[in-house]
Amino acid sequence: MIVLLALAAPWTFSAPAEEPPRDALSDDLHLTAIPLGLPAFPDPQDWPVAKDRAELGRRLFFDPLLSADGTLACASCHPPERGFSHGAPKGIKGQGLRRRAPTLFNRAYGQAFFWDGRAASLEEQALKPIEDPQELGSTVAETLRRLRSHPDYPLRFQKAFADGITAANLAKALADFQRGLLRGNSPVDRFLHEHDHDALTAPQRHGMWIFDSKGQCWKCHPAPHYTDEKFHNTGVSWGRTPLDLGRYEATRRDADKGRFKTPTLRGVRLTAPYMHDGSIKTLEEVIDLYDRGGNPNPHLDPLLHPLKLNPEEKRNLVEFLKVL
Ligand code: HEC
Ligand code: HEC
Repeated sequence: MIVLLALAAPWTFSAPAEEPPRDALSDDLHLTAIPLGLPAFPDPQDWPVAKDRAELGRRLFFDPLLSADGTLACASCHPPERGFSHGAPKGIKGQGLRRRAPTLFNRAYGQAFFWDGRAASLEEQALKPIEDPQELGSTVAETLRRLRSHPDYPLRFQKAFADGITAANLAKALADFQRGLLRGNSPVDRFLHEHDHDALTAPQRHGMWIFDSKGQCWKCHPAPHYTDEKFHNTGVSWGRTPLDLGRYEATRRDADKGRFKTPTLRGVRLTAPYMHDGSIKTLEEVIDLYDRGGNPNPHLDPLLHPLKLNPEEKRNLVEFLKVL
């Protein structure tokens, strides 16, 4: 009977479409409790995140009013369903950008922002895309003018801040919204912190062990954020023109050539394609890069060397990454 049905209607047996990830939506703001596995905020003044500021920030984040021609919002390049990241973001008037938009998960714990670390805080970062001629292409002054003549932003700002609409408050609201984008309470957190052995499958546990031993991944991607917040050269795009020198652009130190900020691996199953340039499409290919010891170049990080992982070790490492 099954054979007959299969012949008559082969689509009955086709794989179901993948469900959109429920845990990536914008209303998943954590304002009252820090999820399992994440520590207290570095600056206690930022916790708890003020609800009225975060909600104002959320509205601004999704509002194309922030762009010169009303076509783009922060969320256009940081869409929630892709873990607030984008592999090939388009700026104002369809301009391509040279770097990928990284995830915004757990940025409350960040120490430097952008792939080259040129901004020191979320507040400092927040106004830059507004003024970047390739991103939102506007100015802060113009944005403040539009907010002041808007039917309800003036009241919303009044509620969130004593001094209403100012550049500093615009930055603060956007930063506080992003501080609420916390990703923890993963199967890995339940395994590590609740001693729930069954939270991870045997292949995932094996993958975690590879991450911490033979893979040496933890050296740059240590828990709980799975980033050391430092800059390293993996050679991922070395040799491509124009060459992106990463951290060097912010410091002009020779040793920083080709170094990029280690990204968090939280939510990494949502954020393909990978790396500062979005040049690696899958986690399997990321593992291949590390397995061969990174891409050769004069500034390659000394921590990288060929790993000689076997196919099962590679597969299980990917299984582990997917549940972070
Ligand atoms: C046109 C696309 C685009 C828009 C619009 C945009 N971003 Fe980004 N964002 C990027 C790219 C690309 C990067 C990485 C740039 C770099 O490292 O040089 C980035 C980086 C960031 C970072 C740094 C994250 C980290 O871990 O280093 C934050 C935070 C951020 N954006 C927030 C925002 C906010 C807030 C807005 C709206 C005000 C916004 N972005 C608008 C493309 C965009
Ligand atoms: C020497 C430090 C270092 C080591 C060791 C290291 N990484 Fe990375 N990792 C980085 C840096 C830096 C980047 C970003 C590189 C870039 O974009 O140019 C990165 C990027 C990634 C990404 C892409 C994430 C994204 O959002 O784009 C994944 C996945 C990843 N690493 C997993 C691993 C795994 C798995 C291991 C162990 C096999 C590992 N890393 C070992 C520093 C390291």
